[in-house]
Amino acid sequence: MRRYENFNSGWIFKAGFEKDQAGSLQSGETVRLPHTAVELPYNYFDETEYQKAFTYQKVIAYEPGFDGREVSVVFDAAMADAVVYLNGVEIIAHKDGYTPFEARLTPHLKAGDNLLTVKIDGSENPEIPPFGGQIDYLTYAGIYRDVWLKVTSPVSIANVKIETPDALADEKTVRAKVFIADPTGKGTSGTVRVTVRDESGLDVASGEANVSDSTVTVELSGIREAQLWDIDDPVLYTLAVELQTSHGKDHVESRFGFRTAEYTVDGFFLNGRNLKLRGLNRHQAWPHLGYAMGRRGQEKDADILKFDLRCNIVRTSHYPQSKWFLDRCDEIGLLVFEEIPGWQHIGGKAWQQESIENVRRMIERDWNHPSIIIWGVRINESQDNHDFYAETNRVARELDSTRQTGGVRFITDSELLEDVYTMNDFILGQEEMPGRNRERVVLRPQSETTGLKHKVPYMITEYNGHMYPTKRFDQEQRQAEHVTRHLLILNAAAGDPSISGSTGWCMYDYNTHRDFGSGDRICYHGVLDMYREPKFAAYAYASQGDADGGVVLQPVTFWARGERNIGGVLPLIVLTNCDYIELKFGDYAPKRIYPDKETYPHLPHPPVVIDLRTVTPEEFGSWGRLWRDGVITGFVDGEAVKTMTLHADPEPTTLQIAPDATDLVAGEKDCVRVILRALDQGGNILPFFDDPVAVSLEGPGRIVGPELISFKGGAAGLYIEAGDEKGTLTLKASCRPFADQTVTFTLT
Ligand code: GAL
Repeated sequence: MRRYENFNSGWIFKAGFEKDQAGSLQSGETVRLPHTAVELPYNYFDETEYQKAFTYQKVIAYEPGFDGREVSVVFDAAMADAVVYLNGVEIIAHKDGYTPFEARLTPHLKAGDNLLTVKIDGSENPEIPPFGGQIDYLTYAGIYRDVWLKVTSPVSIANVKIETPDALADEKTVRAKVFIADPTGKGTSGTVRVTVRDESGLDVASGEANVSDSTVTVELSGIREAQLWDIDDPVLYTLAVELQTSHGKDHVESRFGFRTAEYTVDGFFLNGRNLKLRGLNRHQAWPHLGYAMGRRGQEKDADILKFDLRCNIVRTSHYPQSKWFLDRCDEIGLLVFEEIPGWQHIGGKAWQQESIENVRRMIERDWNHPSIIIWGVRINESQDNHDFYAETNRVARELDSTRQTGGVRFITDSELLEDVYTMNDFILGQEEMPGRNRERVVLRPQSETTGLKHKVPYMITEYNGHMYPTKRFDQEQRQAEHVTRHLLILNAAAGDPSISGSTGWCMYDYNTHRDFGSGDRICYHGVLDMYREPKFAAYAYASQGDADGGVVLQPVTFWARGERNIGGVLPLIVLTNCDYIELKFGDYAPKRIYPDKETYPHLPHPPVVIDLRTVTPEEFGSWGRLWRDGVITGFVDGEAVKTMTLHADPEPTTLQIAPDATDLVAGEKDCVRVILRALDQGGNILPFFDDPVAVSLEGPGRIVGPELISFKGGAAGLYIEAGDEKGTLTLKASCRPFADQTVTFTLT
């Protein structure tokens, strides 16, 4: 049977690489993967620090269990240009920072110790997509995903593609195409057995076929009472494949779901039901750690999108992302738009060929994820290029005829080679551009972007972003405008049945090159900050989910007399999924106010907007008048479900220390986020609290980043990384004027 084991520990790492030393063990730091070659500061850094070569080495002692077997090391990804050597001999090179590659060791293994050396070149090599032009994100060097040791019989299962051709029928079919690897030409004759199991582990179907070739298809039909995979009930099945040849057995498993997904001229349909797609774009980056975040952090991002932001789709801008992230999307019912690496620039023929390979690698890695509903097969925001994109589309369709293609553009009248016209629509805000004297437009009419008279399947893949960068600690008036722009677009997309939906730019702030962002190497384009702490705009999304999945009641204000121009807090947007709210200002009689359906008729949950339609200037007063507490209560079905008190005189009261989890796994570089918040007596963030906080950790683990950090707008983030030993970790945070706080983590 197959061995497939984590191979992350005991790597020797050093900066630089010399080819003539690939065969000898060098001195360096011992590290565990996932690993980032350079831990950059939070901002104001030099991103060329990681754009160079690095060496990773690991000794593999020959085991008797390798005899007569295929032995390889599978890298889930390494950025950007990887070359693998065994005992000084080059065995594989991989010029794609986002997809897996397998280094076959078998022919080069010797008795005793074997030395695996990996050269990682983090340079922005213009031969490799996305490089060659400018890109608005960083591609942190390192072996930043997991690595596995794989030992199989000489003839083994290379991959399996699962299709569910009649997912909506009462009796369903599973078609499994099994790909056989036979690197030494031993002959593939044997049998393949395929079994489908449900979530409780019960077999629901099975079948067998003889193998004589490098692929075999097994079809299981008449499957009754199988459940659909849907966003609210993402039922997964497991398909197990067993291969038996005269050279031994092999076994792999893959999860899948029964579902249909289709973009049409009348919008998007999941399992035949019209669903308005509402989501955000996501990079895969973390402060200090760059790309090197393991399973927990990847899963957490998916959970934030689904459960906190109440999105139903994410776009993996601008590259294939971690399998942990995608697995989680399958588990929780979050749809995915996945795309190839690239950003505006198209290179020469060799580059384009590499990009076509990117399409193939992405699809072959991810074709069984029910969450993925579309393949993005253009370089994000590039110009038209008929031959290149005809080929990316052809390859995508040949590999996977079950999903549609899209290709993200920002140009109009672009040649539609894909199934879906996917458009970054940055029209909102263009009225502010110098020399433009035009009216505010929220979204462009479809015919204006496509240049076509007839409707086509259509999706908005980006909006806002650089048109209105906003920090979590920006003045509230700016944040109110940030919120408004997100709401306006969500409303417009919801109101046009021919728009399948939208993914806004973007989920969280991200580190970037000097040519982008606010000059400190950050693009403040997120609805969350880099630590995934929400800005007000996050609640524009969160409030669109129904209250039974979590009540949202978020006034877009820091509640002060003089934060806004001229003073006061009007108009005050309250982002909520409640039926109505009541507002009490000091001793004045409470006011009941309903959602603003007039401005946002199409939103599932329009915000409440408090302005002079509902309150008088006397109540809220003006400059020089007494400022008072505000109490806002949200009601659902006539019941008060949430109340917020906004204090007229906020006092620093609590230092909150909020870890995502306190149970960590030792020996896996398990990494957990901790948010520190400076709170007032009502539990609200003190928006201008910027004091330093000292953090320290006792026990087998480390704090990622500095141990003296500053609050930014009342919150600060950090990561705790588990070490190799079991035990406990205690994190302490000290900050004037609060009492010290500690939190204990258990490492098992
Ligand atoms: C788009 C691009 C994104 C990001 C965004 C900022 O043009 O696709 O990667 O740069 O602009 O708004």
